[in-house]
Amino acid sequence: MKTIVHVVGTGTIGEPLIGLFTDFRDRMGIDEVTFHKRTALKSDFAKLEHLMARGAKLAADQSVRGDFEALGHTVSLETQEALERATVVIDCTPAGNANKAEIYSKLSGPRGFLAQGSEFGFGKPYARGVNDEVLVEGEDRFLQVVSCNTHNITTLVKTLCDDGDKGYCLDNAAFVCMRRANDITQEGGFIPAPQVGTHGDPEFGTHHARDAHSLFSTMDLDLDLFSSAVKLNTQYMHSIWFKFRLDRDTTLEEVIERLRDNHRVALTDKRQANLIFSFGRDHGYYGRILSQTVVVTPTLLVRRKREIVGFCFTPQDGNSLLSSVAAALWQIDPDPGSVQHRLDPIRRWLYREI
Ligand SMILES: NC(=O)c1ccc[n+]([C@@H]2O[C@H](COP(=O)([O-])OP(=O)(O)OC[C@H]3O[C@@H](n4cnc5c(N)ncnc54)[C@H](OP(=O)(O)O)[C@@H]3O)[C@@H](O)[C@H]2O)c1
Repeated sequence: MKTIVHVVGTGTIGEPLIGLFTDFRDRMGIDEVTFHKRTALKSDFAKLEHLMARGAKLAADQSVRGDFEALGHTVSLETQEALERATVVIDCTPAGNANKAEIYSKLSGPRGFLAQGSEFGFGKPYARGVNDEVLVEGEDRFLQVVSCNTHNITTLVKTLCDDGDKGYCLDNAAFVCMRRANDITQEGGFIPAPQVGTHGDPEFGTHHARDAHSLFSTMDLDLDLFSSAVKLNTQYMHSIWFKFRLDRDTTLEEVIERLRDNHRVALTDKRQANLIFSFGRDHGYYGRILSQTVVVTPTLLVRRKREIVGFCFTPQDGNSLLSSVAAALWQIDPDPGSVQHRLDPIRRWLYREI
């Protein structure tokens, strides 16, 4: 039996994932990488040909096969065939839940399915380094890789508040997610000025704290989290302001030491998002830093011994990419040592200092 990773969607998340699996398939124990694209577009010609030149195989619906071929692409597989023969399917579309209901839940071939941040309810929420221990072999066939800001928030909470056997020392935490208007890969959605968000969720404010709470609930934790969101007229990284109230005293030294001790956290003295973004462009994989969060050290403050305040940047979608790879490798072979080993080739993009 071949080990096949099949990626659905070639957008902001799908494209680097296809590239990553093709580049590192030998070291990750993957025999074949296939991907599905819905629409044949002249403007996507170079992207598809480059992915295929590296070894990935294109799958398309029978109804549009001719459109792809007319552009000059080789279509290797039909959509349903590609899904059935895959070991793991990674849905990178905003339609993961719909695809699960209509297609994935009826397939017997694949061992596992992953969907991304917008697809709340697709399966158990997962972030690498936060709740790995709750994945259950043979049970978690559907997993939802949480959004980039949820990775950031949950990593901060775990790093600063996990007191081991004593539980989490968190009384409550609040976050203001300052989101970029759109990604540099996207044409639409830019805004002329900052646009504040409403608090649609009476308990959590916005979906960011709700998603983080839901992820911690897989670990039997019921944390008091609240978030607000504002969209900024920038294409650079998301930024987050955070305020934690602990149920015990802490110090700035302890806060920095805890952040330094987590290899998934990067620290920086840089205070402008473009500088982190350009570091990713110059030293990242597909321009991505795979760290879960980039905390701005000079902004950290401990107030009244129990409050921690600071700013951090969310490394675009790099953290979601890392968790997607880790979750796919787990579904292929759940042995934790094996997942660890097969992730080795991409570890160098987990920065400790930026
Ligand atoms: N962008 C980010 O920074 C980011 C970060 C973390 C998580 N995510 C999550 O990743 C997911 C995808 O987001 P994205 O930003 O990568 O989207 P995107 O750039 O807009 O790309 C979406 C892709 O999905 C395909 N697609 C859309 N609907 C489809 C359907 N019904 N069936 C098959 N293919 C379909 C599109 O195909 P065609 O173009 O061929 O039509 C396109 O390739 C979302 O859940 C999002 O929340 C995004």
